[in-house]
Amino acid sequence: MSNLSVKIGELELQNPVILASGTCGVEIAQFTNLSKIGAIITKSITLEPRLGNLPPRTVETCGGMLNSIGLENLGVREFISYKLKEWLELGIPVIASVAGKTQDEYLEVIKMLEPTNISGFEINISCPNVEGVEFCKYPNIVKELTYAIKGVTSKAVIVKLSPNVSNIQAVAIAAEQGGADAISLINTIYGLKVDVESRNSMLGGVTGGLSGPCIKPVALYYVYKVSQVCKIPIIGMGGIMSTCDALEFIIVGATAIEIGTSTFVNPNTAAEIVVGIEDYCMQHKIDSIQKLIGTRKFS
Ligand code: DHB
Repeated sequence: MSNLSVKIGELELQNPVILASGTCGVEIAQFTNLSKIGAIITKSITLEPRLGNLPPRTVETCGGMLNSIGLENLGVREFISYKLKEWLELGIPVIASVAGKTQDEYLEVIKMLEPTNISGFEINISCPNVEGVEFCKYPNIVKELTYAIKGVTSKAVIVKLSPNVSNIQAVAIAAEQGGADAISLINTIYGLKVDVESRNSMLGGVTGGLSGPCIKPVALYYVYKVSQVCKIPIIGMGGIMSTCDALEFIIVGATAIEIGTSTFVNPNTAAEIVVGIEDYCMQHKIDSIQKLIGTRKFS
């Protein structure tokens, strides 16, 4: 059996396959064998509860989907009181996604979760559907925010980048300089779908975030670009539906990958991809996944 374990800062995962934020809750345990998965990430948690955007909140597109949830969540206090236990009982590392409108909001949420058994944080600086949560556009702010977060937690800090910026390499460098343990990318791409009869948007929030297989080449391109300028691990995501898709990200330079939209099609996708990566390593006589990461034959 090949060794599939990977490290994100001090956090060791049994394999590189992670369930992406906002695409599954604790109920996924009824539909797949979670003990096979590397880690699971919560829906973004904010300091105060949020009702989210008006429905409809999701709509299918060609090769993917749009969502405009608006960061609906219970807020960190209720999350800790009512939800955290169920998440921790899943038996795999739980990473908390955190969002905020100010640096202080991020710090408050993280300080409250710090004493719990959460394994790490994914910093959402790029929600496409809520104004004021797009720090990803400003490298200086990303560096400062990351540095401040590292000052209040000893857990792994993953900064999640958006494709909706003019220079993703500058943002990645800023996160690394701020002390991030890893970078995850990509978040969803801005999108819109219109009903030609009503001439209205198909989403209550009007615009949304595009995900699914239609964004995979874009995601892979950004992983490639970021891998050219960063030394810290990259967690790649965007339209991964199959083992082959996951292997593309790993070969290009991703240490781990996240599975999101495809979980809606098949809640077992992530578990199947773990087996697929194991098979690929066996067939190619790769005894450790470390020997596959970033082995692309082009510069
Ligand atoms: C939300 C939607 C996204 O596509 C995303 O990446 C983060 C948050 C949301 O609307 O809650």
